[in-house]
Amino acid sequence: MTMRYLSIPKRPFCAALLLSLLLLPSQAACAEGGEGAPPQAALCASCHGADGVPINKQTPVIWGQNEGYLFLQLRDFKGGSRKNDLMGPVAATLERDDMLALAAYFSKLKWPNLQQPDPSADVIAKALSAAGSVGCPACHLAHFQGDGTTARLAGQWQEYLIGTMMAFRDGARGNNPGMSDLMKATAPDDLEALSRYLAGLQIDAYINQDR
Ligand code: HEC
Ligand code: HEC
Repeated sequence: MTMRYLSIPKRPFCAALLLSLLLLPSQAACAEGGEGAPPQAALCASCHGADGVPINKQTPVIWGQNEGYLFLQLRDFKGGSRKNDLMGPVAATLERDDMLALAAYFSKLKWPNLQQPDPSADVIAKALSAAGSVGCPACHLAHFQGDGTTARLAGQWQEYLIGTMMAFRDGARGNNPGMSDLMKATAPDDLEALSRYLAGLQIDAYINQDR
């Protein structure tokens, strides 16, 4: 209990909830600083969103993303095989145990609905054809939910998806040579269609009921 009192001034937005936790220990739920949240979670929320919706479309959703994938990205930002001016300095401050705790924490939160538009039938047909010939679902699974160290793609920002696929393609994102090879083998207009299709996919009725 002493620790909880000490942590209140750092996370004033949780103070009321923390007080209620003292009375109702089982009702833990505060987006960025709740029971069980790693100490860095409030910093993450300043860009990735206090409610899971990131502050802009270049910042990916991390709520509900797969645990192994989240951990590997933090490791790769720190190690430098994935470069980003915003994430690099954040990851540099994290130790392996922090990364494991953050990955476990964010993976258990519910993926937000970003309310992105449904693509046209033409875009869907083009995307499904490209996905079929490259075989994306073999790794990213049938609903593009991914698993383990493979990313969930369904419902991610369209702008982020096309940006990161082009970064794999031109080598700016160098942390997975296999994905780079696949992206090089796929035409940019197919990647554009895939990004629109994936952004519009609402899959939580199938896979996220327990989150
Ligand atoms: C200053 C803004 C900012 C802060 C703070 C921040 N992030 Fe990020 N994060 C980003 C941006 C922007 C990207 C996309 C980088 C890219 O395009 O390669 C990103 C990417 C990521 C990714 C990769 C996701 C994916 O789909 O590949 C993970 C994981 C991540 N951040 C976790 C965290 C965690 C955990 C924290 C807190 C310790 C955090 N971030 C704090 C801006 C931020
Ligand atoms: C052989 C398995 C495999 C196949 C096939 C595959 N991927 Fe991936 N993909 C991965 C893995 C593993 C990652 C995580 C890479 C990392 O750790 O950075 C990934 C990452 C991604 C990311 C980055 C997600 C993020 O949040 O930054 C996108 C986008 C993506 N894949 C799209 C696709 C698309 C579209 C296809 C089909 C055209 C495809 N992938 C085919 C294994 C695969």
